[in-house]
Amino acid sequence: MLNVIIGTQWGDEGKGKITDFYAKKADVVVRFQGGNNAGHTVIVGEKVYKFHIIPSGSVEEKILILGNGVVVDPKILLEEIEALENEGKTVSLYISERANVIMPYHKIEDEIYEELKGNLKAGTTKRGIGPCYADKIARFGIRFADLIDDEVFREKLSIILPMKNKIFKTFGKDPLDYNQVHEEYFKYGKIFKEYVADTSLLLNKFLNEGKNVLMEGAQGTHLDIDHGIYPYTTSSHTVAGGASIGAGIPPQKIGKILGVVKAYTSRVGTGPVPTELKDKTGEHLRERGKEYGTTTGRPRRCGWLDLVMVKYTHRINGLTGIALTKLDVLCELEKVKAATAYEYNGKKIEEFPANMKVLSKCKPVYKEFEGWGEFDKEKIKKEGYKGLPEQARKYVGFISSFIGVPISLVSYGPKRSETILLEELF
Ligand code: IMP
Repeated sequence: MLNVIIGTQWGDEGKGKITDFYAKKADVVVRFQGGNNAGHTVIVGEKVYKFHIIPSGSVEEKILILGNGVVVDPKILLEEIEALENEGKTVSLYISERANVIMPYHKIEDEIYEELKGNLKAGTTKRGIGPCYADKIARFGIRFADLIDDEVFREKLSIILPMKNKIFKTFGKDPLDYNQVHEEYFKYGKIFKEYVADTSLLLNKFLNEGKNVLMEGAQGTHLDIDHGIYPYTTSSHTVAGGASIGAGIPPQKIGKILGVVKAYTSRVGTGPVPTELKDKTGEHLRERGKEYGTTTGRPRRCGWLDLVMVKYTHRINGLTGIALTKLDVLCELEKVKAATAYEYNGKKIEEFPANMKVLSKCKPVYKEFEGWGEFDKEKIKKEGYKGLPEQARKYVGFISSFIGVPISLVSYGPKRSETILLEELF
């Protein structure tokens, strides 16, 4: 069985915790897009793990796969593998031979373009993600198959690097030295040779053997290169369909599609956020929700839950379940709101617009809920969903009925134990 977990908003929905939670019953955990722009926090007991590129099931010592749709910074990957091994964990990782390598010039290009893009800048993580995907599409990317074959790697680098150096010269940046880059990346090629595989072949074999496969989405639907708030998006397909392309599995092999919905909205980066709160409530959400980027440390823009966004997410992904996270962050508030439509130029809009000028002028139409005070965590542990205050259950029930998708899980704290499981994934 193969199930997918995706983010329904702008990333940072708490997918790390949810993936790790469900990964217990999975044999294989796969990343199919993105790179080390992602940041996943997993808390087990007193230990806090932060990962950027390695799949979340690593703490559980699952079979881990980085699919062809992922872009990999070998230096960061090596650091994460070493950190896990130092914790005494066994890392069984396979990297697709078709996955693209993030090269040092990609990070420099990311900085150059962000500086020049003015109002079009997305506020990237500066990890070289966009330039690496751009090279992939332009067909001069370096894939792992190339990195581990020195003859091919040398040839490609000797063509690509002078091109990049010409760009750097134009923008007043120092050129990169071929020998230095080659030496460093040749070393990575040697280290990673034993990890590189035809991961699509492996994955299809695992499925035929009846293994449980969990596909872990990074970022969120509204950061998808096509379906997100373009151009303030990331450069990959963050939606469930991306799992098929980014891992080399037939679409009909996808079983459940679990959408992770944070009980409110956060955004790190630029572009319109219709429900953003620039007041005390927004600050409260940021502080109580610890809404600071895992990758960049930037404060996240916070606001009420936007159900127009999540409804659109369901249309694109076909969610079979919702994992609702960070419900506890709303606890101290007197009123809780969720946007069910927008008002634009005096008209009601119910669908998420593609035009960013329109989106930036959309005013949310809210449904208001009474607050519910602090949770009695002991009661929730004993009684499960029924242990939540009635007003909180009303809020959760409304989300489910508005989107038309059942709630599979409610997370009411960062710890694994602070989770109400309503439906297993496997
Ligand atoms: P990039 O993926 O670094 O190119 O950044 C493009 C946009 O996506 C920026 O607005 C980033 O802040 C945002 N972004 C990328 N990765 C994440 C993530 O994991 N969580 C939240 N936002 C992200």
